[in-house]
Parts: sequence; structure tokens; C-alpha cells
Amino acid sequence: MLSYRHSFHAGNFADVLKHTVQSLIIESLKQKPKPFVYHDTHSAAGRYDLRDEKSQKTGEYKEGIARLWHRNDIPELMHPYIDTVEALNPNGDLKYYPGSPMVAKGLIGHANRLELTELHPTDIKLLRQEFAGDRKVRIEQVDGYQGLNGKMPPAQRRALVLIDPPYELKTEHDDAIRGIKDAHKKFATGIYALWYPMVSRAQVNRFCQKFADQGIRNILRIEMCVKQDTNEFGMTGSGMIIVNPPWKLEQQMKELLPWLTKQLKQDDTAHFTIEWLVEE
Ligand SMILES: C[S@@+](CC[C@H](N)C(=O)[O-])C[C@H]1O[C@@H](n2cnc3c(N)ncnc32)[C@H](O)[C@@H]1O
Repeated sequence: MLSYRHSFHAGNFADVLKHTVQSLIIESLKQKPKPFVYHDTHSAAGRYDLRDEKSQKTGEYKEGIARLWHRNDIPELMHPYIDTVEALNPNGDLKYYPGSPMVAKGLIGHANRLELTELHPTDIKLLRQEFAGDRKVRIEQVDGYQGLNGKMPPAQRRALVLIDPPYELKTEHDDAIRGIKDAHKKFATGIYALWYPMVSRAQVNRFCQKFADQGIRNILRIEMCVKQDTNEFGMTGSGMIIVNPPWKLEQQMKELLPWLTKQLKQDDTAHFTIEWLVEE
């Protein structure tokens, strides 16, 4: 079943958190003059038109990137991410939003490579169009975890792997944990960043505990909720579980999250968490 289309959600509060964390990790990797790979297991389309029917139907970007657009007090740590959005909108109107592959492409630098996998037939076509002719990008229509396993360890021995499943199926939390565990066995020093939705607190707690029990060390969890947890339907926040985070990331998020939560909150119950699931 592949019914999920990211175009309904592009630029929402969850994308802002995910792409900010992604950009901070890429910027950290660039500090060393050694090549690295950006590997995106669930790439989706690469770029979204926020004026199209799907974006307009949900209007989710209005509570995400649109709240930061044209602000002159964006913290410096967020500039690389915001620059990738501005690069798609040179006349200053917010029309396009970059997906994770485009955020990576905008920041990664010439010496580095992108490995992108996506299963949806429409999105893979859009992704291929977006990166046509770009020789540092490889795109494959394969299962994200199989694609990842086949590429580990990367020749460069430095990588950020972004895992951003749609969580449509009941198995997807476990699939993500297994996928990371298998890749980590082959390449223990890679950075693995897994996104998750905050829909049910009990489920997030079980998921985090299970992740923490895998025998993998050095795992940071970052979560931002735009309103209080609820048992009713709907996503109230989202988080990232990061294996082998760059050493500055915890401090950077401690600086950023109070500001970001304030900008994206939907009411005064908004809250955030930064914690070590497993220490080094
Ligand atoms: C949340 S979206 C990804 C968004 C993208 N990472 C971004 O930030 O712009 C999830 C994508 O995963 C794709 N997908 C679902 N199952 C997959 C699988 N097993 N392997 C690869 N892609 C998959 C879906 O078609 C969808 O486009």
C-alpha cells in the first residue's frame, strides 16, 4: 500500500524540525574536509509546489514554514535550512518547498554524494526529473531498507542516513528499528536520523524504549510538540532519533528549540524534549 503523498504535508511543523536537524548534521559533516554520503531511504518527490491543490487542501505549511518566512530574527543556526527554501523562491514569494533530498542537495557541496530511494511511482518520477543530469546523485526505486543495507558501509566511511517513513502500516516502527540495526551492524559509525510522528504518547514511549534496547549506543532524541499530547486523532508533534549525532547537535538544539517551539506552537501547551536515549 502506497497511499501516502508528502505533498499534502510539505513544509508543515514536522518538516521544519526534520529539515532543520538534517541541515545541522550536514553542516557538521562539512566541517571536516573529507567526503561523505547523504543517504535518504524515503525521499518522496524532492520539491513541492505549496500553491497546488494538495498543499492548499490541508494548508499545513501555513503552520510551518510560512510562520518563519520573511522573519528577520531567524537564529543563525537555522540559516542553512532557510537558505535552501529561499533558493527555490528567488523572488521572495513562498511558492516552493524543498523535500529532504533538495535540502541535502542545497547544502552538501560538490565532493559529496546523494543516494536516494523511493517506492511511489509518481514521486520517483518527480524525483528523477528534479535531479536529472546530476552525476553526484543516484536514485533507485527500491525498498528504502533494502537499498540502505546494500550500500553499507559506504566507501567514504562517513554518512548521514535519513529515515523518514510514512508510518502508514502498523509494522513501520519495527521496520525502521530493524533497518537501522542491520545497517548499524555493517557501519557502526554512520549517523542515522529517524523521524517519528507524535500521535500517541504510549506508542512513542514503547518505540523509544524498543530502540534503546537494541544494543546501539550514542542515541539522542529530539522532539517538538506544538500542543499537548492527546488520545484523539491527529499529530501533535514529531521527533527525531539520532544515532551518533555530531557532538554539537545537542547544544545547538538546546539553543534552537525554545525559539522554534514558540514560533510553531498551536497553543500554550507546546513543549519540547532533548534527551539521550542511550549515552555513548
Ligand atoms: C514522509 S515521506 C518522505 C518525505 C521526505 N523525506 C522529505 O522530508 O521531503 C515518505 C515517503 O516514503 C515512501 N515510501 C513508503 N514506503 C517506502 C519504502 N519501503 N521504501 C522507500 N520509500 C517508501 C512514500 O512513498 C513517501 O513518499
